[in-house]
Amino acid sequence: MSDVMPDRGKIIAVTGKGGTGKTVISTLFVRFLSEVDVPLAIDADPASSLPAALGIEVKRTIGDLREEIARPSAIPFDESMPTDMMLEKKIGELLINTPDFSLLTMGRSEGPGCYCLINDILRHAIDRFSKRFETVVIDCEAGLEHLSRRTMRDVDTLVVVSDPTMRGVKTAGVIKEISDQLEISFDQIYLILNKATDEDRAFFEDKIKEIGIELAGVVPQDENVKAFDRVGKPLIDLPADSPAVLAVREIMEKMKLIGG
Ligand SMILES: Nc1ncnc2c1ncn2[C@@H]1O[C@H](COP(=O)(O)OP(=O)(O)OP(=O)(O)O)[C@@H](O)[C@H]1O
Ligand SMILES: [Mg+2]
Repeated sequence: MSDVMPDRGKIIAVTGKGGTGKTVISTLFVRFLSEVDVPLAIDADPASSLPAALGIEVKRTIGDLREEIARPSAIPFDESMPTDMMLEKKIGELLINTPDFSLLTMGRSEGPGCYCLINDILRHAIDRFSKRFETVVIDCEAGLEHLSRRTMRDVDTLVVVSDPTMRGVKTAGVIKEISDQLEISFDQIYLILNKATDEDRAFFEDKIKEIGIELAGVVPQDENVKAFDRVGKPLIDLPADSPAVLAVREIMEKMKLIGG
């Protein structure tokens, strides 16, 4: 974290179809970025699996803060502080700081509540914290929610994760289309083909080119990921020579997110 940054840090958003490996990839991004700096990890999925992958237990989320705000009587209102400053302070209190990275968790609404307020707070948090962190990694929920609500309007690098299925790659195409339509500006958009082989790469290469997304690389099916997830071990602790870890390092070097 740095107090004196000229503008703001780099925002990397990880999107894609459900179950393609967004959380695995986000976790490894955080791991490598934390070797050069202290990145901010944001779990922007109400189903919340990034904290466990990072080995962190979360007690309070943006969802909990929303409940507080939605029930004003529950907040000990400090009249001397403007509302936006109070919100700022409250969001700051949700951050979990470790020596390697910080974490902010979106969480969910209690009951059938709407996500507008949660998404507004999330957008505000991304704006605010990107000024304090050199890099922000956002593990998005599956689907187009954050794109269509423009929660991710200031993304620098959009990473779309796909598995080697036509549905996964088509979803990547829809994400690209929607981003173009909503004029979400990003400097780079990359596709990562996860749980895939070189044959899968050869099969999907042209299709990915057609969509207009650069293929950053292939991450193989990794038995260690499976074994860690089976017992709920934090994926951030995967062995350094694990195939997925090695592949993500190479991909991040190609994307110039870390030095080669
Ligand atoms: N490279 C890999 N090798 C082996 N298993 C993997 C790999 N990547 C992901 N998986 C497995 O695939 C499943 C989905 O991964 P993950 O939770 O990261 O996907 P996701 O896109 O974040 O899912 P969701 O849409 O539910 O958030 C998990 O069981 C994970 O262990
Ligand atoms: Mg996930």
